[in-house]
Amino acid sequence: THPEVVFSGIQPTGVPHLGNYLGALKQWVEMQDAAPPETTLLYCVVDLHAITQPQKPEDLARRRRETMAMLLAIGLRPDRCVIFEQSRVMAHTMLMWILTTLAPVNLLARQTQWKTKLAASEERSPLDPDGSSKLKLGLFAYPVLQAADVLLYRSTSVPVGEDQVQHLELARNLAGKFNRTFGETFPIPKVQLAPAKRVMSLSNPTAKMSKSGAPNSQINLDHSETEIRKRIRTALTDSIAGITYDPEGRPSVSNLVEILGRMTHRSDFNAVAEECAGLGMKEFKDRVADSVVGGLKNIGEEYHRIMREGDGYLDSLSQEGAEKAQWDKKASKLHEKKLA
Ligand code: ADP
Ligand code: NA
Repeated sequence: THPEVVFSGIQPTGVPHLGNYLGALKQWVEMQDAAPPETTLLYCVVDLHAITQPQKPEDLARRRRETMAMLLAIGLRPDRCVIFEQSRVMAHTMLMWILTTLAPVNLLARQTQWKTKLAASEERSPLDPDGSSKLKLGLFAYPVLQAADVLLYRSTSVPVGEDQVQHLELARNLAGKFNRTFGETFPIPKVQLAPAKRVMSLSNPTAKMSKSGAPNSQINLDHSETEIRKRIRTALTDSIAGITYDPEGRPSVSNLVEILGRMTHRSDFNAVAEECAGLGMKEFKDRVADSVVGGLKNIGEEYHRIMREGDGYLDSLSQEGAEKAQWDKKASKLHEKKLA
């Protein structure tokens, strides 16, 4: 049997927030701490995916550094996982090209993510001199690059959020097609679904917490304790007395209950609310803030320390990661299949 290879990616779109942490990054660290030593863990800053959205090169450069720094700050260890930037490993784009020759256009047309992203970019995009409403091949084809990211390392398991499940199905499909056409090469990667519950915006419980959300509606992982407390103190709640867990009737309070529960490793949100039943809203918010400050511990401080190290530090870590990734790829004997 093949040893486990876990691959997961994050786009360098800015400093990650509490939703990214609870929905993805926290699991990355937990996997690192729980995985047996023979498991390979690859965590990739997928900058080639990020450029499917128009942006200034200097912004992309900054966001790549911010994302690399945050992966280290949350506790991922370069001696235990392979932390690297996608564009430093050329084989991603090479395998993508090979897979495009197997990828039916009508299957890509049925993916929903590019439609969402195209609609979003139509709202901004003074950066795009060709006019923003034209669908670019890169945006349309990026699920194939994602398949290449995963298959390149013969990954067996891929942690993703709900919104990426469709792309993973495509990757599984392409792996199967490749194997049937050219011989058994890729394990069919398992989808490891992230916790279903979204962390919602602090100001609008019908929107997920997002980098592009309303001001003060998210908690970023680089925020100071003071900033975290301030944002939770000003979070939208309601005027109903007492604390209860009722996602339909009291979505904003219930979002805070869920944050408190998840930051303290409890999934029975009714029980969490019951413990807070007698608290006033202010005391309840203080308790939520305590859990976030405590749960994020010194991530913010560590992040700022790494960012102060200067460009050379992150650059060389990233380069080492990329070398390790290429070495792992060779170790997986993919080259024997004359692919890379
Ligand atoms: P954003 O919407 O802030 O740009 P991304 O789309 O880059 O975030 O998401 C990166 C990862 O974080 C994905 O795995 C996604 O499922 C997860 N994620 C993003 N926002 C949330 C949220 N509010 N709650 C839970 N998980 C989230
Ligand atoms: Na996004």
